[in-house]
Amino acid sequence: MTRRKRSAGTESKEVISKKTKKVKILTDLPGVGPVTAEKLREAGYSSLEAIAIASPQELAEATGISPSIAQKIIAAAREALDLGFKTADKVYEERLRVGRITTGSRNLDRLLGGGVETKTITEFYGEFGTGKTQICHQLCVNVQLPKDKGGLEGKALYIDCEGTFRPERIMDMAKAVGLDPKQTLRNIIYARAYNSDHQMLLAEQARDLIEEHNIKLIVVDSVTGHFRAEYPGREALAERQQKLNRHLHTLVRLADAYDLAVVVTNQVMARPDVFWGDAVMAVGGHILAHVPGARVYLRKLKGNKRVARLVDSPYLPESEAIFAITEEGIRDA
Ligand code: GTP
Ligand code: MG
Repeated sequence: MTRRKRSAGTESKEVISKKTKKVKILTDLPGVGPVTAEKLREAGYSSLEAIAIASPQELAEATGISPSIAQKIIAAAREALDLGFKTADKVYEERLRVGRITTGSRNLDRLLGGGVETKTITEFYGEFGTGKTQICHQLCVNVQLPKDKGGLEGKALYIDCEGTFRPERIMDMAKAVGLDPKQTLRNIIYARAYNSDHQMLLAEQARDLIEEHNIKLIVVDSVTGHFRAEYPGREALAERQQKLNRHLHTLVRLADAYDLAVVVTNQVMARPDVFWGDAVMAVGGHILAHVPGARVYLRKLKGNKRVARLVDSPYLPESEAIFAITEEGIRDA
């Protein structure tokens, strides 16, 4: 009896998660009739994941439903996806399932606990020429590798805020790891962000692409450049930080909901105290202060060698690793 009941429970839950995955079944959510479902779909909320990570305001604005109903819809979507309270052993299981992308350098991978993680943001920050963009390129290649080679067999989405993306470099790196260069380029979806609003919009639009393609990595290089240029000085600091936080939260939610890695870069000066002269952007530019994630500070050594320092990791010890930027890409020094 108990057994039957339990299996029936499991079964119905499976049916829910399968059925409600796509549009049609949005009508299963409380307060969602065919008209609202259509509005949701038109606004880009075509799956439970998309709804679960939305804010009530966002959803209300997009569809014209009241914020309180929006809140109920979101809560139901979260419940269906099991995003509420859970026991710690389940959290542990989920931690074991977190994906990792190799950086190409074993030392750097070790520093990061096995590579760049999914479900979170990793920030690479440092002065010009420290290898931030090179690491981004390498990860776009490596995410495509088979799992036993340190990849996630997925595609990358590249938001280029500085115009420094180089397909030729991708092709070189692809050849070096035995991937077909042209195919590797086809698996990278690219957009140039022309200002901070555009950058934020691209991140919001990413959701649709993630669902359509198997995106396992989102790169934003650099995440701070536009914000800095558009909101200079002390007076604009609060507004800048507020917008940047919103942007980062969009990215964090994508990482979490779709089990993908988000990598952002942030150029900082060697003497941040002098350059910034403010508390929020203190040493190294504290952009991830309010979002979970790993922060990696890069410095130049002689020649092509670089040193990476893990800062503020939620669970890894603070330590350093040396790597090199070679013809083949990021490698151990
Ligand atoms: P900013 O964006 O200016 O803040 O710098 P960054 O941290 O993004 O630096 P980037 O990743 O562009 O690293 C530049 C370094 O990578 C330079 O020192 C170059 O020597 C090296 N590099 C760039 N392209 C190549 C290449 O094709 N081959 C090799 N061997 N090295 C390269
Ligand atoms: Mg760069």
